[in-house]
Amino acid sequence: MHQIKFVDEANITNKKILLRVDFNVSLTDGFTIADDARIKQSVPTIQYLLKNNNRLILVSHLDRPQTRDPKYSLRIVVEHLRLLLPDYPINLVDDFLSEEGKQQIRNQKENEILLLENIRFYAQEKENSQEFAKQLSSLAKLYVNDAFGVSHRTDASIVSVPHYLPSYGGLLLKKEVATISKTINEAKKPVVAILGGTKITTKIGLMGRLMEIADYLLVGGGIANTFLCAQGIDVGQSYCEYEKVEKARQLLFLAAQKNTAILFPQDVVIGERTNSENGGVVKKIEEIPANGDVLDIGPETQAIFGSIIAKARTIIWNGPVGYFENPAFARGTEFVYYSITQNQDAVSIVGGGETIAAISKEEYLEKITHISTGGGAMLEFIETETLPGIEALKKGSP
Ligand code: 3PG
Repeated sequence: MHQIKFVDEANITNKKILLRVDFNVSLTDGFTIADDARIKQSVPTIQYLLKNNNRLILVSHLDRPQTRDPKYSLRIVVEHLRLLLPDYPINLVDDFLSEEGKQQIRNQKENEILLLENIRFYAQEKENSQEFAKQLSSLAKLYVNDAFGVSHRTDASIVSVPHYLPSYGGLLLKKEVATISKTINEAKKPVVAILGGTKITTKIGLMGRLMEIADYLLVGGGIANTFLCAQGIDVGQSYCEYEKVEKARQLLFLAAQKNTAILFPQDVVIGERTNSENGGVVKKIEEIPANGDVLDIGPETQAIFGSIIAKARTIIWNGPVGYFENPAFARGTEFVYYSITQNQDAVSIVGGGETIAAISKEEYLEKITHISTGGGAMLEFIETETLPGIEALKKGSP
């Protein structure tokens, strides 16, 4: 098994390069890029490779289309890239398998950047088809993976192309791997992990791992409800994964074994998801009404979580602690951000599309040590310290 070679550790010049990026950005109203962090964060790799006279063919997915669908076209990303890289002609290749597409790639101009249309328009991408990986590989002489955010997937452009081309890691991938590994392996105590969001299912493995390293685990959002159920609290009509209640109890047992203090909301905000006029009512968890829908942590819980975050030296956060999409229920998440950014003695890493989307204030961004472009990828990397896409790069070139 080799180590990954990163682009700045090799002499890559005058090559046609297939560069896998994660431009899976969220769109408001289908036409506007809500947050361009993922695009911006791959710009250093793009510029680095262009500076050395390489020609780039970018590959990305957008969302989860099952088939070709204009709603998920990367055209909007091409337009945005043109703003970020005004010195280069940037064009979309509508279908790289068509005669026209092949010709466009053959005729790529010296400083022209090409972006292949959403790679998930081809079912073969998710099927990890080897034939498809070979077709992609045939477009270039070299492959670079800068798509940390999707490197937990076993898609053809992530895990199979590296079998057919000499392969390297990009600068963003390098930064993500180095920063997250260092934060986890050299974590200063107390370590505080904050977990929110809905699906406990996707976080079970991670919670087990966090209990090895964290002194405190603060749980909010939908997953907290499942833990409250596991402790016999009636959460009314709130989101709860009833089939995971037993698993939640096992995690409570594990936390006790590992001496991790695991904390849940003591009070909550009950309200209507779609109503932003009425800010909801605060209830103690024992008083959640039978028709109540828990949508945020309450003020007492904010204070408890805040006092623990204030003492932390290492902070890891994934997942909003409330239904932040409705501003009436974003206060808890907002307060967690506030607390993290006020503790400048701590190293903080924050990840997950929703967690990032919940950032309401620009100034929070610069006060967080590392904002990961990975959601699921960051969680899996913390859990296993590797990802399928990273392993594929380590296997070495053909
Ligand atoms: C993400 O948004 O987490 C990545 O782009 C991966 O997308 P996926 O969850 O649709 O595979």
